[in-house]
Amino acid sequence: MPSPLADPVKLPCGLVLPNRLSKAAMAEQMAKTNQPNDTLLDVYEKWSQGGWGSILTGNVQVDVNHMGTPYDAAIHAEYTGDAAVIAQWKKYASTCQKHGTPSIVQICHPGRQSFRGAGKRGLFAAPIAPSAVPMNVGNGLLDRVIAAVAWTSPREMTRGEIETVIRQFVDTARLMADAGFSGVELHGAHGYLLDQFLSSKTNLRTDEYGGTPAKRARFVLDILSETRKVVPSTFAIGIKLNSADHSSATFEETMTQLSLLVDAGIDFLEISGGTYEDPKMMGYPKNSPSVQPKSERTAAREAFFLDFAHTVRERHPGLVLMLTGGFRTRAGAEAAIRDGACDLVGIGRPAAIEPKFPLVLLDEGVPDEQAVLLLEKAPVPWLGRWLPRNLVGAGAETSYYAGQILRLAKGLATYAPAL
Ligand SMILES: Cc1cc2nc3c(=O)[nH]c(=O)nc-3n(C[C@H](O)[C@H](O)[C@H](O)COP(=O)(O)O)c2cc1C
Repeated sequence: MPSPLADPVKLPCGLVLPNRLSKAAMAEQMAKTNQPNDTLLDVYEKWSQGGWGSILTGNVQVDVNHMGTPYDAAIHAEYTGDAAVIAQWKKYASTCQKHGTPSIVQICHPGRQSFRGAGKRGLFAAPIAPSAVPMNVGNGLLDRVIAAVAWTSPREMTRGEIETVIRQFVDTARLMADAGFSGVELHGAHGYLLDQFLSSKTNLRTDEYGGTPAKRARFVLDILSETRKVVPSTFAIGIKLNSADHSSATFEETMTQLSLLVDAGIDFLEISGGTYEDPKMMGYPKNSPSVQPKSERTAAREAFFLDFAHTVRERHPGLVLMLTGGFRTRAGAEAAIRDGACDLVGIGRPAAIEPKFPLVLLDEGVPDEQAVLLLEKAPVPWLGRWLPRNLVGAGAETSYYAGQILRLAKGLATYAPAL
């Protein structure tokens, strides 16, 4: 029987993704001058040959003053249609899409999660956030020292700054459309700025951008509606959001915000989870002694956020859903599609090891037992063993796989595919 993973998916904007396997966004940490460079193009050249149905780039920061890592690609100045800037991003877009894979740029602002020293705002300048809520990775002395060293306390954004950041997102999307990318994904997950606005924990505002679930969603909705006005109707706009536990107090609030986004018109929703304070997206939830998926039912089915995906599907049957986190086997990916949990399977870390993983998964000649890429947890340096386990584990995963992405770019990767 042909794999359901091989079926194309059409987004509401008309963009057709030739299959259901999406290379998930992974910050490549390669842009030494925060511009797309040859090393970055080299790794996307590899992914472009991998048979993916879509490629999501690592996060591109909409303001070079506020970075997730010091080596993210970023926008350096207000976009005015400058031909040289377009040419630079055009090279990136055409490399990603060289073999026909639609490619979508993830656009991001880290808000309060911008590390001290990441970005051109200066070592001691505060990051911006909806409210002045500092990072909290735990209440122990060591946790507090780590947070104080890693992050400066944020300051509350003024109305003017809110307008500026909305424009930065819109301009970045316009630049990506002009450069020939197929769409953008707003990074509304993992505790970054959009997520900070959505969450009642980090958004304590009492103006029109805070106070109720709908008002907390307004920042994202403004970005969405303003972007629609300036990009072609065929340009995809998706969003990556965090899941919420069914049992959590905020579950219905998340659902209210999601309905508003769906009504505003999104081309797809990518479901993930976690923040720097609680890095579930890497399989390292807070207070967990080891990598443990949520429930036995979830464990039997490899994806981290499957239960939430099913709930979203029940409420929004027409929404194109991408589920990311934990997929390592053809059987697991097919089960998620057949069960109706998602339309698209997002794959992160395996893509850093085997850029052509889809060619293995889609090859009917490869038996199910071989259509897998099981990954060990990334090694933790010995000094790190004294630090909070979830943070160190997630940090080790990110640096290990960023290293693998660099090896891929340089042609040093050694994985032998089962082809
Ligand atoms: C090195 C690395 C960088 C990442 N950077 C991003 C990013 O820029 N944006 C994002 O949304 N997620 C990022 N993630 C998270 C992945 O998109 C994905 O949600 C996570 O790795 C779980 O999927 P996986 O189990 O298939 O790896 C990153 C993950 C890794 C390993």
